[in-house]
Amino acid sequence: MEKREKLYEGKAKIIYATDVNDLVIQHFKDDATAFDGVKKDTVLGKGVANNNISSKLFTLLEKEGIKTHFEKKLNENEMLVKSVEIIQVETIVRNISAGSFCRKYGVEEGIVFDKPTVEFSYKSDEFHDPLMNDDHIRVMKLATEAEIDEIRTKALQINEILKKFFDSIGIIVVDFKLEFGRYKGEVILADEISPDTCRFWDKETKKKLDKDRFRFDLGDVEETYAEMMKRIGG
Ligand code: TMP
Repeated sequence: MEKREKLYEGKAKIIYATDVNDLVIQHFKDDATAFDGVKKDTVLGKGVANNNISSKLFTLLEKEGIKTHFEKKLNENEMLVKSVEIIQVETIVRNISAGSFCRKYGVEEGIVFDKPTVEFSYKSDEFHDPLMNDDHIRVMKLATEAEIDEIRTKALQINEILKKFFDSIGIIVVDFKLEFGRYKGEVILADEISPDTCRFWDKETKKKLDKDRFRFDLGDVEETYAEMMKRIGG
């Protein structure tokens, strides 16, 4: 597998072309940003942790019948993935109130919902990822109604699989963000699933085990990514 030119560089990852059609390399960086890139730093070992964690979770989801862009882990901070057309909508599933849900609606953190919520936002740093409903997505032509329905169903299935797995290692899945892409006429899960894109709390201590430690300067940032990689067995 020959690595070719850089196709895209985002805040936390780089995509490289390969000599194989339809496959690209997803490289995980140690760069960390928050608040649409306003806060920036390096978190040593984050790239390796997120690559290993995402590889493990994509493998688990595939085993449970969820199609993802994951092909295989290539090395410590790179994976081989299918080249998808990313749908410019972020899908967020919440099991417990936290983050922007608390800020927006003035509720306390930690309220356990009787059923998960699914919300969508426009993937745009410029406009600060604004919340969108199905109609907004449709009129903006970001996805069709059928695609939105499929994404919502898949997001809830993924939530059940992740909650069960994380419960078995003593971790609560508070909320998470997914990105989907189009590939050969199908909508498949893309991007990453990691402490950068999920909120995880320890079941016993309720300690935050995710990027909130970086966002809000809670300390133990590097240690937390390393601990999550170890607990997930990535
Ligand atoms: P929020 O509470 O800030 O809306 O975040 C919900 C979830 O989405 C949380 O698990 C973190 C994740 N997330 C991202 O992956 N990327 C982002 O840009 C933001 C704001 C949140």
